[in-house]
Amino acid sequence: MKYCRVCDSLIEPFMSFGKMPVANAFIDKKDFNNEYFFDLSPASCSNCSTFQIVDVPEQGKMFHDHYAYFASTSESMTNHFKNLAHEILKKHVKSDDPFIVEIGSNDGISLQNYSELGIKHLGIDPSKNVVDVCRDKGISVKCDFFTKQSAEEIIAHNGKSDIIVSTNTMHHIPDIKEVVEGAKILLKKEGLMITEDPYLGDMISLNSFEQIYAEHNFIWSVSSMKYLFNLYDMEIIDVIPNKYHGGCLRYYIAHKGVYSPNESVSLYLNKEKNSGLTSKKVYENFRRSCIEAKTNILELIDKIKDSKKSLVGYGATAKSSTLINYCGLTNQHIDYICDSTPAKQGLYSPGAHIPIVQPEKFTENYPDYSILFAWNHKQEILKKEINYQNRGGKWIEYIPKVIIT
Ligand code: SAH
Ligand code: TYD
Ligand code: ZN
Repeated sequence: MKYCRVCDSLIEPFMSFGKMPVANAFIDKKDFNNEYFFDLSPASCSNCSTFQIVDVPEQGKMFHDHYAYFASTSESMTNHFKNLAHEILKKHVKSDDPFIVEIGSNDGISLQNYSELGIKHLGIDPSKNVVDVCRDKGISVKCDFFTKQSAEEIIAHNGKSDIIVSTNTMHHIPDIKEVVEGAKILLKKEGLMITEDPYLGDMISLNSFEQIYAEHNFIWSVSSMKYLFNLYDMEIIDVIPNKYHGGCLRYYIAHKGVYSPNESVSLYLNKEKNSGLTSKKVYENFRRSCIEAKTNILELIDKIKDSKKSLVGYGATAKSSTLINYCGLTNQHIDYICDSTPAKQGLYSPGAHIPIVQPEKFTENYPDYSILFAWNHKQEILKKEINYQNRGGKWIEYIPKVIIT
C-alpha cells in the first residue's frame, strides 16, 4: 500500500512508465552492470490532489557530490532569475538589511545577484559539487537538505529570513512537509516565500509527461500547494505563470492572515476544479496520450533508421530520461546526445547508455536529424545552432506533438 506524501491518504498509480534509472544519474561505462532502477508510477491523490510518483528513490541517490544539473548553463534561466532577484529587492523586501534564503541554490544562478550587491543571503543545497561552485563565486551556502532542523540551525546563526526563494526544487523533495515546517519557522512574520515549479496544468495540456521522473517527485498545482501550506498555517497570496521549463507557476506564499490573497489564486483554483485536474478521466486521457506519443516517436525513428539517416539527441536533459527509457530507445537508435555540461560529457545516459558528447561533435559533423531533448530551451538552442538548419539539418520536436522542422 502506498500513501500520499502530503496527506497520508492511500494512493493508487494510474499508470507505470516501467523500470527507470534516476534521471540525472549519468553513468560511467564501468558501472553499467551496477545501475539502480525503480518503477516510475505516478498517482494523483484524490484527497489533497497532490500529483506525485509513488516509489521515490532515497534522497542520497538523487542529490550527492556529483550532481549533474548546473542551472547556469542556460543564459535564459540566468536572465530569468536575475529579473526575479530585482523584483524581490524592488517590490518585496521591507527591511534595509534583508536576509534572503534560497532552498536548492544549486550553482548560485539566483544568489549571485544578491551576493554581487552585498546583500545578506544563504543558500542551502545538499549536492556538494554545486555548493562548491557557489562558494567559488563567493556565495554563502550551507551544504544540507532543508528540513525543520536545518531551518533551526539557520535561525541560530543568522536569524529569521525576509524572503525564502525556492525555484525548481519544491518538486524534488520527497520529505516536502519538512520543507514547509522549516519555512514556517524560518520566515519572518511579514516575510514572503516564493516558489516556482513546472505546473501540473501545463504538463497535462502539453502532454509533457517527461516532467515526471526521479527527481520530479511531485508536479504541483495551486490546489495541492494550497493544501500543503495550509497544514502549516500558511497561504498562497499570488500566482504568476511563465513559460520556462515547459510552463511553470510562481507561488507567493505568506503566513496566514498577514496579506490578502489576490484573485489569481481563486481563478486558478476554479480553473483547476473545472478542468477536473484531479479527476480519473483526466489521468486516463493522459495515460492514453503517453502511449500515443511513444508510438509516434518510435514510428518516426524507425523510418529515419530505415532510410539510413543519422540521428542524435540535443541536450542531455533529466526529463528526456523518462522519454528515452519509456520508449526503449538505445544507442542503436540515437548515436549520441550532445550537451554543454562538462560533468555530463564522457558519460552515458541513464538506463539507455547513449554516449553524452560535447556540442563540438555536433557542429563538426552535422547529423541528418536531431531530437531536441532540451525542448524547453528551444529558442536559445535554435539561435545558437542556426547553421545546422541552414545546412539542411532537421530538428525533431515531440512536445506537445511529434513534428519535424
Ligand atoms: N534553483 C535552481 C536549481 C534547481 S535544481 C533552478 O531553479 O534552476 C534543484 C536543486 O535542489 C539541486 O541543486 C538539488 O541539490 C537541491 N535540493 C534537492 N533536495 C533538496 C533539499 N531537501 N533541500 C535543499 N535543496 C535541495
Ligand atoms: P534542463 O532542461 O534545463 O533541465 P532538466 O535536466 O531538469 O530536464 O536541462 C537542459 C540541458 O540542456 C542541460 O544539460 C544543458 C543542456 N543545454 C545545452 O547542451 N545547450 C544549450 O544551449 C542549453 C540551453 C542547454
Ligand atoms: Zn494527498
